[in-house]
Amino acid sequence: MTAFFAAAFFAIAQLPAQQPAAPPPHEHEPEPAPTNLKVLPKTFTGEQVHKIMHGWAAALGTHCDTCHTADPNHLGPNGRPRLKFADDSKPEKAQARIMYTMTEEINNNYLKKIAAAAGPDEKEKPKPVTCGTCHRGHVKPEAYIPPPEALHEH
Ligand code: HEC
Ligand code: HEC
Repeated sequence: MTAFFAAAFFAIAQLPAQQPAAPPPHEHEPEPAPTNLKVLPKTFTGEQVHKIMHGWAAALGTHCDTCHTADPNHLGPNGRPRLKFADDSKPEKAQARIMYTMTEEINNNYLKKIAAAAGPDEKEKPKPVTCGTCHRGHVKPEAYIPPPEALHEH
């Protein structure tokens, strides 16, 4: 048994030497610097913008092409049209800018007041509002319908 594991370990340990050096799967080209930021800080790098974008797409349960225009003349390596990220033609992109500004306003104005009113206890401080607070995996937030028993009047 020990000999088997030793042999297996030896075989695995040998692998990198036998194979040509390939880049790790998650490494990719650096993201290009953004050219058309109107609400995010203009100092953001391409990497910072991408991280935020993945967060927005996840919070809305959707993909990049909900807000970004596809370019049918330029196909990516996966055979699908590349997205023109700096292009502003989709209404969802304009709506997302308004939503971002609104979310910042809620946090920087209203939630700061809630924090101040909560007193000195750190545990009572509100967590920041994010896209996910309302969207919860939907492009259009779903209405909350309270269960009938909760609506019961006594
Ligand atoms: C809910 C809408 C929405 C989704 C989904 C979304 N984006 Fe964006 N994206 C925006 C908005 C709005 C901006 C512009 C921000 C600004 O004006 O500061 C933007 C800007 C960008 C930019 C910068 C373009 C430039 O040059 O100025 C890149 C790159 C980008 N998005 C990539 C992505 C990627 C990749 C995804 C998917 C993982 C994605 N976006 C998903 C709304 C979205
Ligand atoms: C306070 C709650 C709230 C927050 C926070 C919020 N949204 Fe929204 N959002 C809404 C509501 C409500 C709508 C209207 C949905 C409808 O049309 O029924 C909406 C609509 C949208 C739409 C248009 C969807 C469509 O196709 O009609 C986009 C895009 C969007 N939000 C993106 C965002 C992004 C990105 C963030 C975070 C930066 C965000 N939202 C944060 C409540 C919120």
